[in-house]
Amino acid sequence: MKKVKNILLIITGGIAAYKSLELIRRLKDQGINVTCILTKSGSEFVTPLSVASLSGNHVYSDLFNLTDENKMGHIQLSREADLILVAPATTNTISKMAYGSCDDLASTVLMATNKQVFVVPAMNVRMWHNPATQRNIKILIEDGVKFIGPEKGDMACGEYGLGRMSETEEIINSIIEYDVSLLNQPLKNLTALITAGPTKEQIDPVRFISNESSGKQGYAIAQNLFDMGAKTTLITGPTNIPLPDGPSILKINTAEEMLEASEKILPVDIAVCAAAVSDYRVSDKKKSKIKKVGENISLELSENPDILKRISNRNSNRPKLVVGFAAETENLKNNAATKLLTKGCDWILANDVSSGKVFGNDENQITFISKNKTEKWDKMSKNDVAKKLSINISEYFSS
Ligand code: C5P
Repeated sequence: MKKVKNILLIITGGIAAYKSLELIRRLKDQGINVTCILTKSGSEFVTPLSVASLSGNHVYSDLFNLTDENKMGHIQLSREADLILVAPATTNTISKMAYGSCDDLASTVLMATNKQVFVVPAMNVRMWHNPATQRNIKILIEDGVKFIGPEKGDMACGEYGLGRMSETEEIINSIIEYDVSLLNQPLKNLTALITAGPTKEQIDPVRFISNESSGKQGYAIAQNLFDMGAKTTLITGPTNIPLPDGPSILKINTAEEMLEASEKILPVDIAVCAAAVSDYRVSDKKKSKIKKVGENISLELSENPDILKRISNRNSNRPKLVVGFAAETENLKNNAATKLLTKGCDWILANDVSSGKVFGNDENQITFISKNKTEKWDKMSKNDVAKKLSINISEYFSS
């Protein structure tokens, strides 16, 4: 992992701009070199002199400044940085970014960049909730821009709500672990399909069969593949966790719906089946609530389609790489290796679920199994599992 060393900080014109002065100091404490662009309205809130003194670098403002363009042109400014941080980002700047305007140095650099952009919004609560702002944010997330915050709280204008700029510590935590090598977007020409979460099989209008899958592992995989440039679709059962930023999302309930959604988006290059699919559904789903009748009743169950197996064994449009999961309580390696064959997938990520919770947990202990390799991975966070898997996938496609 290559860590962030150089940041281009764009300070736009909001009252929260004073916080960016503290941000510069704390970034420098982390050994990060900070170069700043101050927009015209940003300079109404903080002066170029304070920004230059704290960053120790020249401050850039003007697109048509002959000396600056000569020394460090607008293209070069973003090339020399590992990432761009827009903090505070006003709704005006967010709107310009979404629509690709370039009428000043900051917006021109943002258009010309080949780097990851992090946006830290700061604005009045009504501005934040305005449908235009929300539309623009949606566009930017789809374009791969990452958002930090905003927070809820008291505003400088006296109102209360969402729109406060995130605290310095949160901003730093969000970018410090950013892996600069991901900037190469090694999966950028590939498409990926991820299944995640549980499925929910209705018994009658109020009862259902499901399981405790949180969706965390599948969501982390979708996020990492997207961050590495893959055009990613996440097909998810019902969960209670935030959706990943960027991938297209298809929400389903049943295994049959998950299969149908998966087949619809083929062809893809990569399929990762991380969902905990119900193996069975109720054969005769009742239209009205089943009544208590004072004696035992039985439910007949029909077998659900095995999505991983179906995708792995397709004659046409089989993804180039199909990855499945295996939750095992005993004989992990043997059972998982057998699963690789019976399902017909290329890789299996097996985890031992005999000793306590995996569902909902933030960590996972994986044994990676392919036709010619078995490898025990250290216990790590589900996000690190997702990152390691994504790196393996990128190596597979580059070899
Ligand atoms: O057979 P088992 O459920 O242990 O296999 C687990 C793997 O198969 C997981 O990757 C899971 O997403 C996938 N699976 C599926 N459709 C099913 C059952 C499991 O895709 N009906």
